[in-house]
Amino acid sequence: MTANARAQVRLERDGDVAVIWIDNPPINAGSAAVRAGLLNAIDEVARDERIVAAVLIGAGTTFIAGSDIREFGQPLAEPQLPMVIAAIEACPKPFVAALHGAALGGGFELALGCDARIAAPETVVGLPEVTLGIIPGAGGTQRLPRLVGVPRALAMICSGERVKGAAALAASLVDQIAEGNLCNAAVAHARSLAGRKHRLRELSVLAGEPQAVADAVAAALKAGKNRPAVVAAIDAIKASALQDFDTALAGERAAFQQLRTSREASALRHQFFAERESAKHPELLGAATRTVQTIAVIGAGTMGTGIAIAALDAGYGVLLLEQDGGALDRGGSRIREHYAARVSARKMATDVAQSRQESLRTSLQWNDIAEADLVIEAVFEDLDVKREVFARIDGLARPGAVLASNTSYLDLDAIAAATSRPQDVIGLHFFSPANVMRLMEVVRGQATAPDALATGLAVAKKLGKLPLLTGNAFGFVGNRLYAAYRRQCEFLVEEGAWPEQVDAALQHFGFSMGPFAVADLSGLDIAWRMRQAQAATRDPAARYVHVADRLCEAGRLGRKTGAGYYRYAEGNKPMVDEAVHALIEQARAEKGITPRIISDEEIVRRVLLALANEAALLLAEGVASHATDVDLALVNGYGFPRWEGGVVFWARERGETALSADFAWLAEISGPGSRIGDPRPLLASSR
Ligand code: NAI
Repeated sequence: MTANARAQVRLERDGDVAVIWIDNPPINAGSAAVRAGLLNAIDEVARDERIVAAVLIGAGTTFIAGSDIREFGQPLAEPQLPMVIAAIEACPKPFVAALHGAALGGGFELALGCDARIAAPETVVGLPEVTLGIIPGAGGTQRLPRLVGVPRALAMICSGERVKGAAALAASLVDQIAEGNLCNAAVAHARSLAGRKHRLRELSVLAGEPQAVADAVAAALKAGKNRPAVVAAIDAIKASALQDFDTALAGERAAFQQLRTSREASALRHQFFAERESAKHPELLGAATRTVQTIAVIGAGTMGTGIAIAALDAGYGVLLLEQDGGALDRGGSRIREHYAARVSARKMATDVAQSRQESLRTSLQWNDIAEADLVIEAVFEDLDVKREVFARIDGLARPGAVLASNTSYLDLDAIAAATSRPQDVIGLHFFSPANVMRLMEVVRGQATAPDALATGLAVAKKLGKLPLLTGNAFGFVGNRLYAAYRRQCEFLVEEGAWPEQVDAALQHFGFSMGPFAVADLSGLDIAWRMRQAQAATRDPAARYVHVADRLCEAGRLGRKTGAGYYRYAEGNKPMVDEAVHALIEQARAEKGITPRIISDEEIVRRVLLALANEAALLLAEGVASHATDVDLALVNGYGFPRWEGGVVFWARERGETALSADFAWLAEISGPGSRIGDPRPLLASSR
């Protein structure tokens, strides 16, 4: 029987208690059919005199873990959730929500509409609506403050925080943790409540100290970057203490309805769907994954230690190898310091930190590679060094082990060719810091076997990463996009904008930092060395901005030298430097460029176009797997504002005709060497 043909809600009886099963796999989403089924069941509970109380419970692995994504952005079908919750509250018999798996969004609001909540130990509860640009719209902002107080409700709703098991009990989000059979425990609890109603709406709000409320508001606005959904959530939660329940509830619903149709919510839904899309790889269907328990990481530098921490945190055994004893000691200390800091910040229990570190072995002897199921190389970014390391790994690793390189730019096929098993070689491109950044590129070489690739993707998931499958091309997806972005910003400077204007305009748009401030932070020398290495093969006719080279020649390598595009004094705050202006003016004069005034609007437009154009090229070349992967890379790796959706989201709003003309304009203004992408593949939505 298909899910649709089966009743999504069914009422069973356990003596005098009704057990209402919600059965809408895979996540028991609160669809229109579920809501209608619940209304019928509630009606039956109210009418049947033999029933004294009821339990709401999810069939399968979870309670209602979220909304029906088919309703995202569409008009809501009747009956709507507030009506269901109102029926529970109006029913004179008590309802107990029995939670397991996840009770999120509307699922948790439904639970808040019940008289009590009882949860299995690992249950996760939360109201993550703001992460989709909306607010809880079925009483979450009104009932939660009655349960946990205004300050805690502000923190939880404005961040979309999910709270698990024991922590949920400690915070009063659930009344009881059921250690044994959840349904039986909930039925017993419901029976004990017979004859009494505990409507949350009847409790007075735990307003909290004014200072605690003000602090929670300030923290929420800061972390939520003043986004409209956060502001609306704050207003709605505050209203719980200022207005009567029904007035505040109506206000919440109105704000929810208005936000649902906003551009921001649509951009955030785009990001949500892009993540689902990024995991679809029809060409890998049926590819088995190889078992991975032990990971060898080669190179204990910045990336190697971050990768080791990420792997330890995911439960892998890790072998960290080096060529240099000093580097190995420093890497080992960095890992120990990381865990010590987690413990002292109370982010990790001492015994957990201890057991993670016990899964780590550091060594200068590489023979143990034979134990590894996956080897991740993170040595210097130099093809000869990497080829040498891979040849050595090839001689030691067991047959069938997956061999991965963390290279940012180098040719994966050239690295694979140093081994006798290129089918086992993949790219696993982590971003820095590797234990923090969610983005990861999983790179396919020419000879890579599907199961090696599928294993890379599975490990990435287990590490908690957002993996994007990419082709093997210079800079893969992310760094190629970033290079196009940087190039365009340099053009803008050459034509008349100052670096600080470009940075400010893009920060105002929402980037976490401007490109020149980022360049100073990461150091200008790495890119300089790369440009020098590429000088011989560069198209001499292509437009080339010399400003960065001149800065480096003057010893201005960024923050680490106290100067780059900006000057840095105490506190590391970037300061505008007239010497940089002079250097830029000189570079313009040498090319005979008369500077013009460039508007902030032009800066943002050209940056978006340069990114969209590069995205079109990446798709045409088969480097990006899905158009929307570009938006995931930008948001999760490069500080692009999530609430703007990404450049593909933006391009789809512009449409084909406008975009074709825009691309041609961009190529003209960017000058020789510009390539124009075909916008059509960007615009084709696969949904
Ligand atoms: P790093 O210089 O901090 O560390 C490299 C480590 O590799 C050093 O400890 C060195 O002793 C060791 N090493 C060098 N040759 C070796 C060999 N033959 N055998 C064993 N160990 C050797 O470099 P980082 O930043 O950690 O980068 C490593 C790789 O990760 C590079 O390919 C880089 O492109 C890539 N990457 C770096 C990112 C970053 O932001 N730093 C981001 C993403 C990738």
